[in-house]
Amino acid sequence: MYNSKITGLGYYVPDNVVTNDDLSKIMDTNDAWIQERTGIKERRHVIKGEDTTTSMGVKAAKIAIERAGIDKDDIDFIVFATLSPDYYFPGPGVLVQRDLGIKTVGALDVRNQCSGFVYAISVADQYIKTGMYKNILVIGSELHSYGLDMTTRGRAVSVIFGDGAGAAILSRAESQDEGILSTHLHSEGQHAEELSLIAPGMGKRWVSDIIADNDPNDESYFPYMNGQFVFKNAVVRFSEVIMEGLGKNGLQPNDIDLLVPHQANLRISQFIQNKFGLKDDQVFNNIMSYGNTTAASIPIALTEAWESGKVNSGDLVVLAAFGSGFTWGSVIIRW
Ligand code: UT7
Repeated sequence: MYNSKITGLGYYVPDNVVTNDDLSKIMDTNDAWIQERTGIKERRHVIKGEDTTTSMGVKAAKIAIERAGIDKDDIDFIVFATLSPDYYFPGPGVLVQRDLGIKTVGALDVRNQCSGFVYAISVADQYIKTGMYKNILVIGSELHSYGLDMTTRGRAVSVIFGDGAGAAILSRAESQDEGILSTHLHSEGQHAEELSLIAPGMGKRWVSDIIADNDPNDESYFPYMNGQFVFKNAVVRFSEVIMEGLGKNGLQPNDIDLLVPHQANLRISQFIQNKFGLKDDQVFNNIMSYGNTTAASIPIALTEAWESGKVNSGDLVVLAAFGSGFTWGSVIIRW
């Protein structure tokens, strides 16, 4: 058995900054509402045609590979987490393999929305633990802006989400005392539709139905969120899964050097911080600048935290996420 550790991190966000005031020009919303309810000040939106989910993932991956001090030919496996793939199929994992010119290694796509990166890290960790692979490229990337309802009808969702990508290289650690100590994954499909995008799918809204109906009022291909219900579940599950991870390793909340929560809502992060009695510098938040980038939010935040010197050798770093599915999870890391 081997431990895995993160040896390289990178992120990419489009240059195009969209402020709350920009949104208030195209829908009935305002900066005060958005900041008060979510903490978000601005987010990035791709300029149409300039980037895709895959191209952003590739840009983040190149930085992570270089920082890990490896060559693309050293990568044994690719795991790509997104809810906004370039194509319905195939998933972006193979597109990354092609665009980075990586040899014909396996490429796996993870469909776990806001928990996608945590799930992807957990999968990669298992392959390294068993000794099957030594270096795995893990990407979380999202291009939300093309798929949001940017009218007042969609404002409860569309002001929250942003575009971007983050990537990590997971490599075999030298000792069992460093790297990923444990990962913890959960799901509760009972609430699948509470945060969902129903169409196009093969269940309720077939592509052929959508084309045949040609209904401009059809909302089924925009994301839907029962915000307050999701919020209430999020604060409970975030707390549970962080405690589960700490407990598994004989640790307490005050052992945490840095908590990097999925950037769903600044109020959720602050709730967790207060519940665990953590100081401001023990919780990393950047939702103010990027909004909620779903599977990309943790790797972007972790990269920014690392770049600003907040992650150091020996630190206990905790990643935690909750989102659509519902799915949730945590990763406990001794850096
Ligand atoms: O990442 C995956 C996990 N996601 C989460 O955990 C998100 C969880 N939920 C949330 O973060 C919050 O529920 C939201 C930020 C989505 C919404 O905040 P809220 O405090 O729950 O607001 P609400 O949905 O209850 O809406 C309150 C009011 C409504 O008006 P009325 O009915 O009180 O007159 C909405 O129509 O705010 C209105 N509203 C807006 N007003 C201005 C909704 N969206 C907007 C908007 N601008 N963008």
